[in-house]
Amino acid sequence: MTVFLNGKFLPAGEAKVSALDRGFIFGDGVYELVPVYSRVPFRLKEHLARLERSLAEVAIRNPHSREQWRDIIFKLIDAQAFDDQGVYFQVTRGVAKRDHAFPKSAEPTVFMMSNPLVAPPAAQVEAGGAAVSAQDNRWLRCDIKSISLIGNVLLRQISAEAGAAETILFRDGRLTEASSSNVFIVRGGVIQSPPKSNLILPGITYDVVLELARDNQLPLQLADIGEKDVRSADEIWVTSSSKEVFPIVSLDGVSVGDGRPGPVFRRMHRLYQEFKQKVMRAGKREAVAV
Ligand code: PDD
Repeated sequence: MTVFLNGKFLPAGEAKVSALDRGFIFGDGVYELVPVYSRVPFRLKEHLARLERSLAEVAIRNPHSREQWRDIIFKLIDAQAFDDQGVYFQVTRGVAKRDHAFPKSAEPTVFMMSNPLVAPPAAQVEAGGAAVSAQDNRWLRCDIKSISLIGNVLLRQISAEAGAAETILFRDGRLTEASSSNVFIVRGGVIQSPPKSNLILPGITYDVVLELARDNQLPLQLADIGEKDVRSADEIWVTSSSKEVFPIVSLDGVSVGDGRPGPVFRRMHRLYQEFKQKVMRAGKREAVAV
């Protein structure tokens, strides 16, 4: 696998970073994951805007212009043998003597790799997945796509050990998101999700689902959602660039609705798949705006 590290394309095994890199020592960096369909990145501009925002919030200098990011991403895509990819990239504060305070001068470290992007198989979507719940004990800046993911990792492990697909998180009795995805519920035919805030990652897939709901006149409400409303919801979905829109059919061992993916999910899933064929997969490289 060819990866990108600090200006060079090289085999993954040859990509070496200093042990003093602040990403390694402090988790001091931010990242992005861009889905690529038929070798064309989806919503690159939005992903780069989110990266810029994350970098600005943690005061790490953005080492590349948008055009440079696009060129590197195109080259990395071309170096892989598969057409659908998940391009992962991270920027850390760089290499410096260990000190919590920012170093006076350090060059940001840029690392990028691309893995095959595999949507959940049809049989899995048909069956839906289980989720367990946990208290959201992460920090209060979950809107920053930080590489310090230990909170998310520990929360995801709870569901992994339960053989479940995701861990759904509650903070102060309210739904936030899941360990690596956003969460939607359906009650009385209305699609609901928490509004963007410092408590959730502003998902690009979340935005797509909102657009598809609005464009197709599906009732939609962005508002705080209490834990009880999640537990008695007719449907629960999780969304992310890799999971797309995925149905949760049990929460903590209790069936969601009738324990099968619900009608509003089926509609949204169909809309998403159509959108993927017509828009995501039909994208042209020349038209990828940054
Ligand atoms: N995770 N919330 C969290 C905590 C996430 O980690 C993610 C994405 C999302 C969904 O964001 P998007 O729709 O832009 O993928 C929400 C990525 C895929 C990851 O860390 O691998």
